[in-house]
Amino acid sequence: MKKMRAVVAFLVIAGTPLACAAFDLQRAERLFAQHCAVCHGADRGGYIGPALNRDETKLSRGEVAEVVLSGRPPTLMPQHPSWRGALSAKDRDLLAELVTTQPKSMPSWGIDDVRKSLQVLVADEATLPSAPRYKIDRIDDLMAVMSRGRRAAGKEAKVLFFDGRTHRKVGEVPTVFGPHLMDFHPTDERWAYVRDDAGWVHKVDLYSMRTVRKVRAGLNGTSLAVSRDGRYRPPARTCRTRW
Ligand code: HEC
Repeated sequence: MKKMRAVVAFLVIAGTPLACAAFDLQRAERLFAQHCAVCHGADRGGYIGPALNRDETKLSRGEVAEVVLSGRPPTLMPQHPSWRGALSAKDRDLLAELVTTQPKSMPSWGIDDVRKSLQVLVADEATLPSAPRYKIDRIDDLMAVMSRGRRAAGKEAKVLFFDGRTHRKVGEVPTVFGPHLMDFHPTDERWAYVRDDAGWVHKVDLYSMRTVRKVRAGLNGTSLAVSRDGRYRPPARTCRTRW
């Protein structure tokens, strides 16, 4: 009987709602930014997936944790196996707590953040090849397919390039986050610009099939415009997270 009581006491402690323990908001926000923002919006106000905040989400904490575990097949909401090793049950609870108790956030991303995010992956562009490294009759025939991957992030997120005449794959460029849109340079055939769903703009060399520079122009991003004279490449709305 004593043993039984001990078991009951243990169960009660284990079942203590997270709200009673200290809620680690910072960790929850970090997890959200890392795993969810690419689809649900950096501000949790909805993007490709629905809004996830206490004012808009109708689900209970348990239901949110369950959706993270099971996904919503066949929609884009991934199932837990695809986060294997990345999200523990504790992390799922933390995210559920965040979604059900916190309002939409207002992350800012100003021009200084944009500047600081610049990554130069090929310092000297003169070292790049002077013609395509793959066989293609006309580079104008290049076709690009945005491969978002199951989580819109990781190794499956990349742009695939095909020769539009032969349908042969000629290259792929990883983008880390799900690529959303690409535009070719209007006057110089070797360049293309890719916008991914975490807001990065990638400058891609189509001859060597690699990213030479990238800059985070916002926290999410569907859009990109290259001016037809080829001189300016303003990503639409640099400072807000949604449009
Ligand atoms: C690859 C895109 C993608 C990622 C990454 C993603 N989601 Fe989703 N999520 C979706 C989509 C799309 C839906 C809508 C599914 C539907 O139509 O039922 C959704 C639905 C949900 C719902 C149900 C919302 C409601 O009101 O019914 C919850 C909760 C949720 N996601 C939580 C998360 C959390 C937490 C993460 C991060 C761990 C995450 N999602 C990551 C795409 C994604």
